[in-house]
Formats: sequence, C-alpha cells, structure tokens
Amino acid sequence: MTSVPPLNVLIIGSGGREHALLHACQASPLVASIAVAPGNGGMATETTCHPLNVEDVPATVTLAQKLGTNFVIVGPEVPLALGVVDALEAAGIPAYGPRKDAAQLEASKTFTKDFLLRKKIPTAAGEKFTAAQPAIDYLQTRSFPIVIKASGLAAGKGVVIASSLAEAEQTVRDMLENRRFGSSSEEILIEDFMDGEEASIMLMVSGTDYLMLPPSQDHKRIGDNDTGPNTGGMGAYAPASVVTPAIEQRVIQEIVEPTLQGLAADGITYRGTLYIGIMVTRDGPKVVEFNVRFGDPECQILLPLLATDPVALMYACAQGKPLPKDIRFHSGSAAIVVLTAAGYPGEIRKNDRISLPATLPENSQILHSGTRRAEDGQLYTSGGRVIGAVARGPSLATALQRAYQLAEEIQFAGRHFRRDIGARQLQRDAQSPH
Ligand SMILES: Nc1ncnc2c1ncn2[C@@H]1O[C@H](COP(=O)(O)OP(=O)(O)O)[C@@H](O)[C@H]1O
Ligand SMILES: [Mg+2]
Repeated sequence: MTSVPPLNVLIIGSGGREHALLHACQASPLVASIAVAPGNGGMATETTCHPLNVEDVPATVTLAQKLGTNFVIVGPEVPLALGVVDALEAAGIPAYGPRKDAAQLEASKTFTKDFLLRKKIPTAAGEKFTAAQPAIDYLQTRSFPIVIKASGLAAGKGVVIASSLAEAEQTVRDMLENRRFGSSSEEILIEDFMDGEEASIMLMVSGTDYLMLPPSQDHKRIGDNDTGPNTGGMGAYAPASVVTPAIEQRVIQEIVEPTLQGLAADGITYRGTLYIGIMVTRDGPKVVEFNVRFGDPECQILLPLLATDPVALMYACAQGKPLPKDIRFHSGSAAIVVLTAAGYPGEIRKNDRISLPATLPENSQILHSGTRRAEDGQLYTSGGRVIGAVARGPSLATALQRAYQLAEEIQFAGRHFRRDIGARQLQRDAQSPH
C-alpha cells in the first residue's frame, strides 16, 4: 500500500457507529491522534470530545483546522448531504464520506429512484410527486399495500406502508399538503410494495473500486418478533445467510457494479461507505434504498469482523486510491444488542444512571450512543438508544451469548432490549446441514 502520513483523525458524530469508528482508530497503527466531535459519554472517557453542531459545515472545517486534523471520518448523513466533505477537501483535508453530489443517493429518494430506473437496476416501480391530486390519481391505478416516502432526509421516519387507498390518500395529503416532514416531504415517492426479506449490504467505495463487507440484518421494531413501533435499530448480526452466495453474486452484478459504473458515467465520484438496503424477493435482490454512510448498528458489528485495518481502507477511499487486494475478515459472526431508554421510541426519559460491568466477555465491547458523562464522572442516559453490547464469536450462537451476557450486565432504570436478535439466522443455521 502507498505510504500514509501519521493520521490525526477527527471523527464526526455521536452514536454507537462513531464509537465503533473510534475503536477502529485506536487499533490502527496509522493513527497518531484521535479527536471526536461531538461524541458521547463513552467516547469522552477514551479521547477528547469537542462540542460541535454537525450540521454547521464551516464550524466543522474550522475545528478540523484548529486541531491539525489530516483525516476526517464523517459518521452521519446530514453533514454529508450538506457538503461537509466538499468543504473539508477545499480546505485540503481528506475526508471519508461522499461529496454532496453523491450524498443525494440518501438525501433524495426521488433522485435515487430516477437513477435506478434509468440504469435499469432492480428496484420497485415508482413515481415522484409534488402535488397531492396527481399523486392520488396515480394511487387509483396501483395495488395495495403501497409505499409512500418523503423524498428528503427524515431520520428514518419518512416512510409509510399504506394498506388501503384511503390510508395512502391520507398519507399523501399529510406529506404534501400538511408538510408532515417539512421540506423533506415537499416531494414524495410512491412505490410498489416488495415482498421478501430485507438485508443490508455495506460497501467501502473508492470510485469504481470497492470492498463488500459481510451482509447483515438489523432489527427495526422495538419488540421481539418484530412487533411494536419502528426504531433506529435494536440490534444486528452478520453475516446474514439470507444473502446466499448466489444472491450475493446477483447483488454484485445487478446492483453494485451498475450503480458504481452508473454514477461514474453520470460524472459523480463515489468515495465512502455505500449502504444498500435490499429486499430479497422471489425475483431476486432489489434495491430498497441507499444510505451514504455506515448503518448504525451495522457498523458496530462489521468493523470488528474486518481483520484488515479499516482506517487504511477508509483513507485509501478518501484519496480515491485503489483498495488493497489482500483484505481479510475474521471467521465467525458478530452481533449487537442495543439497550434503549425508558419510553423509547416515544417520549424518552433521560438521566437514568448507568452501571457498567468491570470485565467484559471475550471479544466483546461496549459501544455508547445516548450516554453522557456528568461532572461527577458518572454515566447517565441521554438518548433513546443508549448503549450497544457487541460481541464476535466463532459462531453466531457464541457471539449472541457473549453480547447478551454483556447486555444483562449493563444496568439502568427503564432499560429495554430485544431478546431475539439473530433468532432468524439461528433458525436458518439449525435447518441447514453443515
Ligand atoms: N418498496 C418497498 N416494499 C416493501 N417495504 C419497503 C419498501 N420500501 C421501504 N420499505 C420498508 O420501509 C423501511 C424504510 O424504508 P427506507 O426506504 O429504507 O427508508 P428510511 O430508511 O429512510 O426510512 C424499509 O426498511 C422497508 O422495511
Ligand atoms: Mg432504511
């Protein structure tokens, strides 16, 4: 690999994903110093956290300059959509994450649908609308359930699966006329419902060169057996064998390659993580959506599965250099169980005191999200998703056993976590002969 200067890294973000990135930086021989902005209670015990509004692009550049940063890793999507990477690059600071033009793949669902249909990449048929009446006329011609999406960023809340025309009509009016998601629902996308099982494919991309990380599955609903309201993600595991080697080949040939070639042909350079949400349907894998950054909580399990230094890969991507060919993964599986605060995903209670175990199970780690370290040095809950218990093991069963042991030992009032993370995969493992 080409020579890399000692890296003074700045990590942007405050969730479990960024805590995982921090651990990856701590383990990397390439990294000389690490700062985080704004960070959380867990990261604050391990490195310096700087206050930052991550939506303030000029402030981010100023902070990076002040710290002598020569590599920025951007966690969340909003700063990417606002062009933070363009601004950092203009200041001579390489950054991991796509530029503003490429970040549209997440920031505009209508941009992405146009792109996918134009490039003939498998996805649900759909149309975009800015006015309610044409949208309602279109609904009359479709079958149900149907999927209605605010086009812009809506923190994972902008998608409604409507089971009837009446519900769909109401949703359309809510989004377009009542501006339920503000400017994010000025434009909406209506697309056909895809039946199947979902999986996440994460790529680290350097132009048209890329590394595909093991397929993973997250668990969006608050309750066991996928019951209750949606959340930011209650847990995840990888690899997920719903993406069989044959499906994976189809994902590469029918989705990944045409996407990266298609972007390049459109004059868009992609650098950073590309997250492809897929639906494995009877007709094969189809794109549900793109995200332009690591998923949270998927990041927390994929980085530990990489035996090659993730920082080396991220830096190569940021420079637009080819990725090394000898990338290695740990065998076995990884899992994360997310612990949430009282009330989540509704109105949450904050400031419950957290107690952490003194020792951790083998190959496990605690990754913080909504935590705060108070003046007294104690940890308190400060967000809906509080902490993740992450573990790797030779089998998924072992990884889960370690992650659940750890989850039990992290205590705070109102704590909740799902008991069935990875259960589907365990069932699949039990059914398939080894
Ligand atoms: N066309 C579709 N068919 C079936 N389910 C869908 C479809 N589009 C979205 N979904 C479901 O809605 C969820 C959220 O949609 P997504 O496009 O990922 O938006 P976001 O993550 O921005 O909220 C998906 O994870 C999937 O479960
Ligand atoms: Mg999604």
